[in-house]
Amino acid sequence: MPFQQIVPVSATEEIADGLFVVRFRSERIAQNVQPGQFVNIRVTDGFMPFLRRPFSVSRVEAEHVEIVFNIVGVGTQLLSLLRPGDVLDVVGPLGTPFRYSGDFSTALIVAGGLGAAPFPLLTSWLQREEKQIVSFVGARSAYQLYRMHLKNPHYATDDGTAGMKGTVVELLDRFLKSTQVQKPKIFGCGPTKMLKVLSEYAQKNTIACELSLEGDMACGIGLCQGCPVERVGGSNGKKKYALVCTEGPSFQCQDILLS
Ligand SMILES: Cc1cc2nc3c(=O)[nH]c(=O)nc-3n(C[C@H](O)[C@H](O)[C@H](O)COP(=O)(O)OP(=O)(O)OC[C@H]3O[C@@H](n4cnc5c(N)ncnc54)[C@H](O)[C@@H]3O)c2cc1C
Ligand code: FES
Repeated sequence: MPFQQIVPVSATEEIADGLFVVRFRSERIAQNVQPGQFVNIRVTDGFMPFLRRPFSVSRVEAEHVEIVFNIVGVGTQLLSLLRPGDVLDVVGPLGTPFRYSGDFSTALIVAGGLGAAPFPLLTSWLQREEKQIVSFVGARSAYQLYRMHLKNPHYATDDGTAGMKGTVVELLDRFLKSTQVQKPKIFGCGPTKMLKVLSEYAQKNTIACELSLEGDMACGIGLCQGCPVERVGGSNGKKKYALVCTEGPSFQCQDILLS
């Protein structure tokens, strides 16, 4: 059940070049959030930007909730300027969480860029479930790599400035070709193009795979129909589109069509 709350900001930090963490205090969200869920934030009292902005809950410590972001536009710029003592209007936790328990032994976490954001929280929940965890993180270049709070990380960069030179899906493939993995399940988050390649890879190799989508969103609660993703088999009497904000952002890869 989501809440709307005015919450105090407890910290804002630039933890790497252009990478910001905002931490706010909300006991209710901290106690209720599950990995893969997000919060929808009104970043200003004014009109610009008018719509809330969605962010994955990245970590929870006691009653503190953390989000991680890069500045891409006006909303994230305003968030980066918050200081302790400021307040935020937050709705959450929202969305369908990752299926973090069940019939798999090894979680293969695959992150493209800031697609890593939901994975620290997922990692802590997987550890409680006593799953093995291996993480794969890709970025264009070394300075954009997310390197915190992940288990057994392997890195890839497009320009070869850190880790393997290549894509994060190539990195995963190289690992799986050289390592015996018991009952794997992939958890992926990142740019849509990367998720499409990852989905095809998982299905070709019959590995269970769940993807968290980060497309555009508006209301965040299933009202505006502004966040559709095409379903597989949607024309055969089933709804053609799923809503990312309520039915996702986490989907089984075989259930959705990415373009
Ligand atoms: C469920 C969900 C979880 C998310 N979690 C995170 C997170 O943890 N950390 C994070 O940094 N971002 C996350 N995002 C993306 C984040 O919501 C957007 O980056 C943010 O809304 C941008 O707001 P803005 O006002 O700064 O940029 P805008 O002014 O809205 O956009 C600036 C530019 O970025 C592009 N853009 C905006 N949103 C996206 C997007 N989602 N994907 C690709 N391009 C986009 C716009 O088209 C535009 O060109 C998430 C999105 C969703 C749907
Ligand atoms: S964002 Fe409004 S229905 Fe999903």
